[in-house]
Amino acid sequence: MELCFAPLEGITTYTYRNTHAQVFGGCDVYYAPFITPSDNEKLSLKSLRDIVPEKNRVERLVPQVLTNRGDSFLKFEEKIRELGYDQVNINIGCPSGTVVKKNRGADFLRDPEGIEQFLDRVFEKSELKISVKTRTGFSSHEEFGRILEIYNKYQMESLIVHPRTRADFYNGEPNMELFCRAYKESSNRLCYNANVFSVEDFKKIEADFPNLSGVMIGRGAIANPAIFREIKGGKPLEVRELIEFTNLLAERYLEVLGSEVYTLHKLKEIWMYTMWTFPEEKKILKAIKKSNKLPDLLGAIKGLL
Ligand SMILES: Cc1cc2nc3c(=O)[nH]c(=O)nc-3n(C[C@H](O)[C@H](O)[C@H](O)COP(=O)(O)O)c2cc1C
Repeated sequence: MELCFAPLEGITTYTYRNTHAQVFGGCDVYYAPFITPSDNEKLSLKSLRDIVPEKNRVERLVPQVLTNRGDSFLKFEEKIRELGYDQVNINIGCPSGTVVKKNRGADFLRDPEGIEQFLDRVFEKSELKISVKTRTGFSSHEEFGRILEIYNKYQMESLIVHPRTRADFYNGEPNMELFCRAYKESSNRLCYNANVFSVEDFKKIEADFPNLSGVMIGRGAIANPAIFREIKGGKPLEVRELIEFTNLLAERYLEVLGSEVYTLHKLKEIWMYTMWTFPEEKKILKAIKKSNKLPDLLGAIKGLL
């Protein structure tokens, strides 16, 4: 069973992924945040920046594409094959307003026939190994039966299921009953994704669904970047290494972004999740939120030592 780092747009950039692999490691494959292919050549080169091999030092990286058009997919495929990739993940689940407005991501789930036409084209023409990352509906889980029927037509590398609807966003409990149905009825190997925050959470999934192709962890890995190592029996997270990790990230983001303010924003966003690991440390959380300068944040987290 593969351990996968979920794509988190704005957070799991190449800078984050490289630093995570260097300091903590433990995960088998990183999924890159979505890239929306554009017809404008310059823009699309810019959008590929995150996955160019020169910048990526993790062993396995799977690019993710967000589109509902076969021709855009195929153009994207051509570009990433040139970069040396043999696998791609298709995002049919992003709930963000700007994405949904353009009938992409989770909004595509409202149009099962559209998904079918799109996947027909993709699977007919593509030479890549393809996985799909999906939610279980747009507004209701009732929609999933039809969607799963469509996914079952294709031979995928894996089907990654986040058992929430778009309406759920990231809130509440994932619908395990529906995931169980997918586990029984999917013709493709399944990867589970949602709310794995501890080794115990992982073990429960593994025990309930022993034939999964993988388990994908997102926010739980930002909260505790040692989670993959811990699942594999390695040592638990140490505050010292978390601080080292953050200092390294700060150094690298300062270089990449060329701005202390942007670097501070990046680290603040990460630490809003990391502080889930330290629920008692309310004063430190407050100090992180209030920090106006990078050294304020780096100083505040030392309070965890
Ligand atoms: C800030 C943020 C950004 C995300 N960006 C992406 C993305 O680019 N592509 C994607 O497929 N899912 C994205 N997701 C969804 C996650 O990959 C994952 O499916 C979701 O968080 C549930 O898993 P978790 O409970 O382990 O975090 C994002 C989620 C968050 C919170």
